[in-house]
Amino acid sequence: MTFRSLYRLELRGLLDCPIVGVAVDDWTLERLVQHARDSIAATGEVVDEETFARFAGRLAYVQGDFGDAATYQRVGEAISGAKHPVFYLEIPPFLFGRVAQGLAEAGLTTAARVVVEKPFGHDLESAKALAAELHQYLDEAQLYRIDHYLGKMGYEEILYLRFANTVLEPLWNRSYVECVEITMAEEFGVEDRGHFYDPVGALRDVVVNHLMQVVAAAAMEPPSGQGPDALHDAVVTLFRAVKAADPAHYVRGQYDGYQDINGVASGSTTETYAAVRLEIDNWRWAGVPFYIRTGKRLPVTQTELRIIFRAPPPIHVGLGAAEGRAPVRDEFVVKLDPSTGARVIVDAHRADGRGPQAITLDAEFADEGGEGATPYEVLLHAAIVGDSARFKRQDEVEENWRIMQPLIDNPPPVHPYAAGTWGPAIASTLVAHHGGWHGPWIVTSNGADT
Ligand code: BG6
Repeated sequence: MTFRSLYRLELRGLLDCPIVGVAVDDWTLERLVQHARDSIAATGEVVDEETFARFAGRLAYVQGDFGDAATYQRVGEAISGAKHPVFYLEIPPFLFGRVAQGLAEAGLTTAARVVVEKPFGHDLESAKALAAELHQYLDEAQLYRIDHYLGKMGYEEILYLRFANTVLEPLWNRSYVECVEITMAEEFGVEDRGHFYDPVGALRDVVVNHLMQVVAAAAMEPPSGQGPDALHDAVVTLFRAVKAADPAHYVRGQYDGYQDINGVASGSTTETYAAVRLEIDNWRWAGVPFYIRTGKRLPVTQTELRIIFRAPPPIHVGLGAAEGRAPVRDEFVVKLDPSTGARVIVDAHRADGRGPQAITLDAEFADEGGEGATPYEVLLHAAIVGDSARFKRQDEVEENWRIMQPLIDNPPPVHPYAAGTWGPAIASTLVAHHGGWHGPWIVTSNGADT
C-alpha cells in the first residue's frame, strides 16, 4: 500500500523528495527497488516504466537496528539538507518510543513530522502512556497519527455535503432525524491476520477509530475558523458530547470457524462482529441514537452512513390516502466503500406501482467526477506538505477510548454467527424501535442495486 501510494503520487506529479527506507535487513538498493516494483504490481496497478524510473531514482536504503544510535546517524546523512523530513514509522507500536528517542538524540526531529499508525494504545490508559512517551521527544504538532478513514473520499464527502447544501443542513438534527446508522460490513474474514486480530477484536480494530471518525463527520458542528486546529477542536467537542457507551447496548459476535484460524487462541472470546448504540448529549443530537455495526464474514463488503428521518404524519391527499398508508421515512445515505456515492430515499408516486412507494435517487461519484485518490495517497501527501488536519490529535484519541472504555471493561458475552449472515440475531434488538437495521445500499456486479 505504501509503495503503491508513493508511486501514484509520482504519477500525479506530487512527489518531489527523496525516499529513504530504513530496516534491519541487509538489503541492497536494487533489492529495495525490485521490492517496490513487485509491491506496486501486486496491487493490480499497471506500472508505467517512465514513472517508475523517476520513482526508483528517489529511493535509498539505510540498514540498521532501531536500538543502535549509529543507525540514526546514517539516516541523518541520507537525508542531510532536508527541511521538514517525514519519518513514517511502519513498525510495531512498542518501537515508536525507541525510534522517536533515536531520531531526537541524533538531532533529526527539530522540524520533522513523525507519522504513526494505529493502534494508539489498547485502552484509555495505554493511549495516554504512549502519548506521554512520544511527547518526551516530539511536540504534539509534529505527530501525525494515521487513521486511513481520514483519507477516504466518502469521509470528506459527508462533511462537505452536510455543510455545503441547504437542502441538507437545516434537517440534520434532532428535530428531523430519528436515528443514524453506520454499517461497515466485510465479506472477508480474519484470514492470515489471526496473530494481530485475536488480541484486538472488532471494537478496537475499527470502531474506536475508523467508525468514530464517521460519527464525527456525521455529527460535528462546522469548524469555527480555518486551519487544522479549528477542525480538530470541532471534532473533539463532538466526541466530548458522546456519552460513555453502555455495555447493555453492545452486542458482540464471532463467526463460526474463527477459532480455527492460525494465531487465534482456542476458546477465544474475541468479537469479529460488534454493534453498539451511542448517544450524543448536545443540542443537535440529544435523543437521536447513533447505531454502529461492523463485522467480518458478513454477506457483503460495504460501508455506509445512513441518516433516517422522522416519519411524517398520515397524508390525506394523493393515491395512498385511500389506503391509509403512512409514507416511508426518508433516508439519506453516503456510501464510503467499496465505491463512493450518495442515495436519497423519498416517498413518491410511481406510475408502475400501486401509487406511492419509496424511490431511490442515487449518485455514484465515480460517474460524477471520479473516485479520487486512495486514502494512503491522500495521507502521505498531507504528511509531506504538513497538512495535519488529516491526522488524529491525541485529545481525539483519548476521547474515543473514553467512550468505548465501559465496553472494554465489561464486555457482554460473545454470540456465534454463521459466516455469510448479518451477525448474531440478537443484534436486531438494539434497533428494534426503528424497524430493524436499514440497508446497506449494495451495488451488485451487474450494476443493479438493492
Ligand atoms: C483496517 C483494519 O484498519 O481497516 C482491517 O485493521 C479492516 O481489519 C480495514 O479490514 C478496513 O479498511 P478499508 O479501507 O480496506 O475498508
